[in-house]
Amino acid sequence: MCGIVGYVGTEEASSILLEALRKLEYRGYDSAGIAMVDEKNELQVRKIKGRLSNLELLVQQKPIQGKCGIAHTRWATHGEPSDLNSHPHTDVSKSIAVVHNGIIENHAQLRTWLERHQVTFVSQTDSEVIAHLIDFHYNGDLLLAVTEAVKRLEGSYAIAVACKQHPEMLVVARKDSPLVIGRGASSTMLASDVPPLLCHTRKVQYLEDMEVATLTQDEVHIYNLDGDEIEREIQTIEWDMEAAEKCGYEHFMLKEICEQPKALRDTLRVRYKDGSLSFPTQVENLLVNCKHLLITGCGTAYHAAMVASYVIEQVAGLPVEVLVASELRYRLHIRKEGEVCLLISQSGETADTIASLRLLKELGVPTIALTNVVGCTLSREADWVLYTQAGPEIAVASTKAFTTQLLSLFTIAALVAKQERSALLEALELLPGKTQLLIDRQEDIQRFASSQFNKTKVFFMGRLVDFAISLESALKLKEISYTHSEAFAAGELKHGPIALVDTSTLVVALCTQPSLYAKMDSNIKEVKARGAAALVITFEDVHTFDDTADAIFRLPQTHPLFSPILSVIVSQLYAYYCAVLKGNDPDKPRNLAKSVTVE
Ligand code: G6P
Repeated sequence: MCGIVGYVGTEEASSILLEALRKLEYRGYDSAGIAMVDEKNELQVRKIKGRLSNLELLVQQKPIQGKCGIAHTRWATHGEPSDLNSHPHTDVSKSIAVVHNGIIENHAQLRTWLERHQVTFVSQTDSEVIAHLIDFHYNGDLLLAVTEAVKRLEGSYAIAVACKQHPEMLVVARKDSPLVIGRGASSTMLASDVPPLLCHTRKVQYLEDMEVATLTQDEVHIYNLDGDEIEREIQTIEWDMEAAEKCGYEHFMLKEICEQPKALRDTLRVRYKDGSLSFPTQVENLLVNCKHLLITGCGTAYHAAMVASYVIEQVAGLPVEVLVASELRYRLHIRKEGEVCLLISQSGETADTIASLRLLKELGVPTIALTNVVGCTLSREADWVLYTQAGPEIAVASTKAFTTQLLSLFTIAALVAKQERSALLEALELLPGKTQLLIDRQEDIQRFASSQFNKTKVFFMGRLVDFAISLESALKLKEISYTHSEAFAAGELKHGPIALVDTSTLVVALCTQPSLYAKMDSNIKEVKARGAAALVITFEDVHTFDDTADAIFRLPQTHPLFSPILSVIVSQLYAYYCAVLKGNDPDKPRNLAKSVTVE
């Protein structure tokens, strides 16, 4: 979604804010803007449609100076991407500037009400009401004005406010959208996420829902909406800048794909020590005594949940239900005896996943978050939290976050397993090394992609865990290469999708479940008979498909239930190279945002 940043300190703020926006560009890139209180205490605003480079150019042409400012990178929700709809938005007298991430659900009523009070709107956004509301309540006290304004907002927001009457202060507020405050030696910053803060400080404070804060160069004061001051601990971020930089790779996505062996090793090290599994005692008790496991998430996290359902049911005989969070939050949930819910989210800020968490907590279902971001909303609100150790994931399309989620879920499977436990553990230990063998063969996939990237239709098919990875593979490909790609449970092909198969189709068949090789071979023959080309992904010693497939990509051998961590890396690399060959920017696919903090 959108990204917001702010700076107040001793240095010129514009280059700091632009650099900070760069690190948030994964959150939105259809327009960007900056507002600053200059030395004459005037509010200066520059904003423009398009990528951040457009704003950088604009600021070069029309420089903006000051040591206190806010900035924004937009992913449009209300109002098309345009200069006027870009943030920051200001009040009528251009004294107050606001950047906003979220959606104001009652913006239409507020707009009508403000118009009755002689306010003229210049944009079509929901966010503009915030600037006018703050102005309406402003009486010399910016903190109070922001507090009164946010009390009237429905929906979600993380906002930062600059005001020319307060040239050395910013005010921030949040509800259901992330906001982190960075405490530097002679500056204070704010951002929607940690990476922009890291070149200035590792000391951060997280603002919570329904809180407002004043930020000056040396001080931060946090209040609830009743005006009571709140103590908030300062936390230290452990990972460093390098983790959030490209380090010589052409794209973040490729870097993150290649980081998987390390990310998996780091994740495994936390859950598996000295030959035995290691979980917080209460989490272990919950999982071991659980009678019904519900797993939820969105997008790629949902696919991780799907894989886990097959694996856990298979090895533990434990019923596992998987629901996509955007559905779970609205459907009637019938609580089952001994039910535990696992919520998966890389960012821990996805609106639907958080809403599902709140619903389940209200119903009294114990909740465990599986997330990659320390201190995220999901981690703070869930009863328990398990962390993946993927490090920051910047590219919009999730890669290392997904495989580390899978690995964490496999450790849970091993924990609750009634059979094959030692075989599972043995296979788990070897998995990170096997992913390295695949990464080392990325040129083979690049070569295949260069012969196939122009295909207009790509279908992935598989059974059981291979079906879940088919879904994830099709998602990856469509997200970044914009190729029409779909996934089917191979057995469902004859119930409709086969009507779409013709000579322009590439079918990728995932075949890692030995008991189903013969069935998959028949499915491949069916699509080939209709003119499709078939790529098979299978293990290295399998020869069932030698005479059927047009091409075979062979995975290093592992426990068949753990094949998803290997097969998905092939799909990630295939999607990456197709995107690059088509001239797309895989890190910032059109219309998508990494962190979906609005519905
Ligand atoms: C967006 C991202 C996906 C991600 C999904 C869920 O759609 O583009 O990559 O899988 O959100 O995000 P989460 O942070 O909850 O895992």
